[in-house]
Amino acid sequence: ISFQVFGNDRNPTHMTWLCLLKNIFAKQLPKMPKDYIVRLVFDRNHRSLALLKGSGEDGKEKEVVGGISFRPFKSQGFLEIAFCAITTSEQVRGYGTILMNHLKVHAQSEGIHRFLTFADNYAIGYFKKQGFSKTVSLEKSKWQGYIKDYDGGTLMECVIYNHINYLA
Ligand code: ACO
Repeated sequence: ISFQVFGNDRNPTHMTWLCLLKNIFAKQLPKMPKDYIVRLVFDRNHRSLALLKGSGEDGKEKEVVGGISFRPFKSQGFLEIAFCAITTSEQVRGYGTILMNHLKVHAQSEGIHRFLTFADNYAIGYFKKQGFSKTVSLEKSKWQGYIKDYDGGTLMECVIYNHINYLA
């Protein structure tokens, strides 16, 4: 498995991966309007972290098995997680955890120390295990008006520390 961070940069491989990721989000988040998922995943302000399976060296395409679509708000000191999902056949095998850990390492390299997300109620348990809390320590003035409020979602925050090696 491997991990890649990319955006809508017109690179054909990245565009294929964004399409596959969009399909995973649409299937795993059935309550989200599909056109909304498409809009955010391909939005130039959003980036994606994809979990890829296969080396690509055997002639077979790398397969996207999950990912996170996020929007960095660097000047506000946080990153918003818009969508996070793993394809059905690969769930509960630890990939969701490794994926989030890779996003934490990416955030460290970007100097971002907070993740915010509106978690679906049934995903709160997953986010708690990834270090997210319903207690948001970032001042409201830093995030209010920047991130979208979702009906039926619970705002959760994860603090990223520089001294922790999240991939250890
Ligand atoms: N509720 C409670 N605990 C959960 C849930 C859940 N919905 N999903 C996973 N966990 C737990 C696992 O049991 C595991 O616990 P353990 O370490 O004690 O064994 C831990 O969280 C991590 O499990 P992973 O195997 O790493 O998680 P997985 O690869 O299955 O990915 C994910 C988790 C992304 C939530 C996946 O199940 C999924 O795609 N679900 C459907 C889409 C979804 O709900 N996404 C989040 C919506 S909110 C948003 O996107 C902002």
